[in-house]
Amino acid sequence: MSTQQIHAAVLHRVGRAPRYEAFPAPEAGAGEAVVTVAAAALKPSDRLMADGVHYAPASFPHVAGLDGVGRLEDGTRVAFFAPRAPYGGMAERTVVREGMWLPVPEGADDVTAAALLNPGMAAWKTVVAEGGLSAGQTVLVLGATGASGRVAAHVAKRRGARVVAAGRDRRVLDELVARGADAAIGVDRPHGELADAIAAEGPYDLVVDYLWSPPAEALFDALMRVNDPARPIRHILVGMAAGENATLPAMTLRKAPVHLVGSGRGGRASSRRARRLSPTFSTRRSRASWSSTWRPFRSPASPRRGRARRATAGSCSSREPPSGGGPAVRGYGGPGGRLGRGGQRPLSMRPEISL
Ligand SMILES: NC(=O)c1ccc[n+]([C@@H]2O[C@H](COP(=O)([O-])OP(=O)(O)OC[C@H]3O[C@@H](n4cnc5c(N)ncnc54)[C@H](OP(=O)(O)O)[C@@H]3O)[C@@H](O)[C@H]2O)c1
Repeated sequence: MSTQQIHAAVLHRVGRAPRYEAFPAPEAGAGEAVVTVAAAALKPSDRLMADGVHYAPASFPHVAGLDGVGRLEDGTRVAFFAPRAPYGGMAERTVVREGMWLPVPEGADDVTAAALLNPGMAAWKTVVAEGGLSAGQTVLVLGATGASGRVAAHVAKRRGARVVAAGRDRRVLDELVARGADAAIGVDRPHGELADAIAAEGPYDLVVDYLWSPPAEALFDALMRVNDPARPIRHILVGMAAGENATLPAMTLRKAPVHLVGSGRGGRASSRRARRLSPTFSTRRSRASWSSTWRPFRSPASPRRGRARRATAGSCSSREPPSGGGPAVRGYGGPGGRLGRGGQRPLSMRPEISL
């Protein structure tokens, strides 16, 4: 490692918030490139990483953050992902394998591109690469009110599908309908009622599931009733915002031809194919804007909780109210994770996207 130092959000233990501190500067090895980071979003996957649930560091110290936006040494602006351990995205500089990046089109600012990278990649991968959604098909987005679900609804609508948006935030559901979603379902209701509501909007060709747990269990009941045995349905599990476990009745799989698959790191969607996503970053194309505000980058002495960071010049945060001092990025609530027990709402950046 270099004797030069950078500043970064550094994880020291599973279940502990990262600390803003000095860290050895990265040096590129063979087939690698150093990226000067401009913006890195704080996402559920970063919380899961810190909690040791998913993408957990093999050793510590480790810089937090799975991706971000910045510049290569030749000045090319890129959205990068999967930095080489122990480096992460929440640092002034990081190091990635050659090609582990996408070009960021002019017209998309750093923060929008950084915020869209993970939800956009996941939406493209699920709806297009793995889901194979085509015009005229019906998609249920379970968890459509989150950052990722909103982008998935947007991508699905642009492909000409009928979009059924399900989530618990009524205001966001209304917005999604106003912006082009075909139907909305509130998931915050008893199992039977939710199963009826999901069944009433079916049958479905694709389910993009960011929630799992009770909403998925209601879905399983609905699919038994509503999906034609001759009409296969792809259920892609992308997230577990509502919980880690769900009961899957055998009759769901036997009565409806459900193909249930998980979506995470790797799989069919290679970074080369993901380059097709890059137009999504363009704010002109997607008419996306983010509920975000700018803050100066915090010194080690005055970190704030629950903030996405702009590593060099400023940090980007949602409209979450500040919750006092403490280490940077502390107190966030991963689904079921140790850091989530405090009952704080997780920080997120919510896209306002015209479908
Ligand atoms: N596999 C991948 O590559 C990938 C990529 C992106 C995301 N994900 C996963 O997908 C999930 C959502 O990510 P995101 O980016 O959309 O996060 P986000 O912006 O933080 O949104 C989380 C969403 O989950 C909802 N939610 C939380 N608990 C719920 C519950 N008990 N019942 C119903 N809804 C609940 C929230 O509703 P409220 O707004 O009402 O709080 C919000 O809509 C996470 O589990 C994340 O790890 C996976």
